[in-house]
Amino acid sequence: MHRIISRGLALACVAAVSLAVATGAAAQSGAQQGAANAKIKVGFMLPYTGTYAALGNAIENGFRMYVDEQGGRLGGREVQYFKVDDESDPAKAPENATKLIKRDQVDVVIGTVHSGVQMGIVKVAKENNTLLIIPNAGADEATGPLCGPNIFRSSFSNWQPGYAMGQVVANRGMKRVVTLTWKYAAGEQSVRGFKEAFEAKGGKVVKELNLPFPNVEFQALITEIASIKPDAVFVFFAGGGAVKFVKDWAAAGLKDRIPLYASGFLTDGTLEAQGAAAQGLETTLHYADGLQNPRDQRFRLAYAKAFKLQPDVYAVQGYDAAQMLAAGAAAVNGDMSRKNDVYKAIAAARIDSPRGVFTLSRAHNPVQDFYLRKVQGNENKVSGIAVKALADPARGCRL
Ligand code: PHB
Repeated sequence: MHRIISRGLALACVAAVSLAVATGAAAQSGAQQGAANAKIKVGFMLPYTGTYAALGNAIENGFRMYVDEQGGRLGGREVQYFKVDDESDPAKAPENATKLIKRDQVDVVIGTVHSGVQMGIVKVAKENNTLLIIPNAGADEATGPLCGPNIFRSSFSNWQPGYAMGQVVANRGMKRVVTLTWKYAAGEQSVRGFKEAFEAKGGKVVKELNLPFPNVEFQALITEIASIKPDAVFVFFAGGGAVKFVKDWAAAGLKDRIPLYASGFLTDGTLEAQGAAAQGLETTLHYADGLQNPRDQRFRLAYAKAFKLQPDVYAVQGYDAAQMLAAGAAAVNGDMSRKNDVYKAIAAARIDSPRGVFTLSRAHNPVQDFYLRKVQGNENKVSGIAVKALADPARGCRL
């Protein structure tokens, strides 16, 4: 009896163990399979309404185009998209970013355009250790004091194009300059970069003018500039507001009286709407029309074919954000749960951008050439390189 029971027990145990092993194995292979089939979830947090709506759309177009060129897969995984309209409203940023990260469980946030909104996204991405690739907003903090292992940028810091233009204007012998911008981080930091380079070479910013974002009542400010009679003016405006400013400046009769300089956002993606008022304007940016590189030529043809639109800097930044994600995803065969390996691979990537090849600084911001461009027809034609391989100083970043 005893032996029988023992044998019976033993058999039962063997059966139970093998069942457990089998079940465990099935569960594990199911999990592996599930993971292998899991899609890479991309969350776009961009402005789809308001003065920056066209910028948000161009970024998404560029991003999707790169993914489509890879057959819709990165690191062997299909890509699935989620999106929220951030409305360029900083007050709504934490809630919108949280929606993508907590509700949609995205693997990466691609956002955004507006520097104020960016600050909210950076905070939430850091709290959740979620990969963030910034496809435009220049907020110096994101690759400065708030830099982090999971925070990357495919665009520029606000300091960069401003600094490049400060050198150009000083080298032209201008001494007294007035600046004008919307009063928020992008404008203020862009002016700071300009001033740093311009004053280091002996120039003087004699007046810093501004108006609230996204107001376009420029008249009183234009009148004030005319009365100061500076050697030149440096401005930061973009999107719909940039169209209005360039037209108002010309209509006030200042176009041929006071040289107007800007970071290239003033005339990127806006030329058709600005028309004659923009002709001859000179700006600095990390992209331009007429770059003689085959990578850019292929990109432009494909973009025009896909969207029946000419690409602009925002489309390039979206495209390159996807290239950065691709570098991370490839390194882990699409297993985005291996976060540190993803971050390491992106940080080390060499991005073959339409703007020219770039790498990332220690703070994860592109080290790139800044072109001098001049408006000719509907193009921001490259006329030279204002500063080669310019790296943001990344003040306050400890990585
Ligand atoms: C920004 O807010 O950082 C910003 C917005 C639009 C631009 C450039 C920078 O074109």
